[in-house]
Amino acid sequence: MKIMKLNHIRVLTFAILAFVSALTNGCSDSTSKSGNESKSDASARVYTIGMSQCNLGEPWRVQMNEDIKNAAAKHANLKVILKDAQNDTLKQRAHVEEFVSSKVDLLIISPKEAQPLTEPVAKAMAAGVPVIVLDRALLGDKFTCFIGANNKKIGKAAGEWIVKTLGGKGNVVELMGLQTSTPGQDRHSGFLEGIAGSEIKIIFSADMKWLEPDARKEMESALSRFDKIDLVYGHNDPGAHGAYLAAKAAGRTGIKFVGIDALPQEGVAYVRQGILDATFQYPTGGTEAIETALKIFKGEAVPKEIVLGTRLFEKGNVTQGGQELH
Ligand code: FRU
Repeated sequence: MKIMKLNHIRVLTFAILAFVSALTNGCSDSTSKSGNESKSDASARVYTIGMSQCNLGEPWRVQMNEDIKNAAAKHANLKVILKDAQNDTLKQRAHVEEFVSSKVDLLIISPKEAQPLTEPVAKAMAAGVPVIVLDRALLGDKFTCFIGANNKKIGKAAGEWIVKTLGGKGNVVELMGLQTSTPGQDRHSGFLEGIAGSEIKIIFSADMKWLEPDARKEMESALSRFDKIDLVYGHNDPGAHGAYLAAKAAGRTGIKFVGIDALPQEGVAYVRQGILDATFQYPTGGTEAIETALKIFKGEAVPKEIVLGTRLFEKGNVTQGGQELH
C-alpha cells in the first residue's frame, strides 16, 4: 500500500513538472518563427533580418534568396523579411529606409548599383543597424561586412583561360555586366589583365546589364558587323547564353562561349550540354551572410570582408564537379 502511494506521488510530481515545463516552453515558442528549434535556441530572443534583393528576375538571385532562407530556417530565433526591388534602384533605396524605420535587427543587401545605394546604407549604420553587403559592393566603408567572390580574380582567370584556349590570338566579343555595379567593372578590368600581352582582340564590347535579352540583341549587332568571331566572353551565364542563341539563330558556328555564375541548373548544365565552353562559379554567399549575422547578434567580431572561392567548369572537368581556382 505504502509503496503504491509513494509511486502515485512520484507520478503526480512528474506530471506537474512536465505541465509547468510545457507551459514555459509554449511561451517561448510563441515568439519564435517555428516550433522546431533546438533546446538552446528556445529561450533566445527573436532577431529580425531585412534582406533587400535587387531583383528576382535571374535564377542566380532566386538561388541567393533560397540559400538565405535555408540557412535561416535552421535557427528558430531568426526571422527574415525579403524584399525584391525588381531591378529598380529607387525602389531598393526605399526598401532600405523602410527596414531601418521598422527597426530590423540587421540588414542584408545585395545592391543593384554601388553609388546610389551607398548613402542609404550609411544612414542605416548611423541608425545603429548592422549591414551585410552581399555580392555587389558599395562605395566607401560604411557597412559592417562585405561578402562576395573576387570578381577581378574571376575576370583574370577567364582572360587567361581564353588566351590558353585560343592559342594566344583571336577575336573576342565581350558582353559586360552592368557597368555601374562593381562585379561588371571588376570582371572587365580583371579580363584585361588576363589577356594582357596576348594577341586577343576585343572587337566588340557592350553593357548587357546582366540581362539575357540585352546580351542577345548586342550579339546580333556584333554578328552583323564581324565575320570572324572566335569567342564570346559574357560576364554572366545568362549573357553568354543570350549570345549563343543569337549565333545559333544566325546560323553562325565555330564560336566559343564563356560565362560566369555556374549554377548547377544553369551554367554548369550549359557546359554539360556543350552550349558553353566554360563557366566560372560565383557563389551567392547567402549561407555565409546568415552565419555572419548570427555572429553579429552574439556580439562576436566579424571581418570587414569575406572573400568566397570560385571553381572552373569546362568540358573536361564538369562531370567531376569542376576545379577549384586558387
Ligand atoms: C544576377 C547577376 C549574376 C551575376 C551577379 C553579379 O543578378 O547578374 O548573374 O553574377 O548578378 O552581381
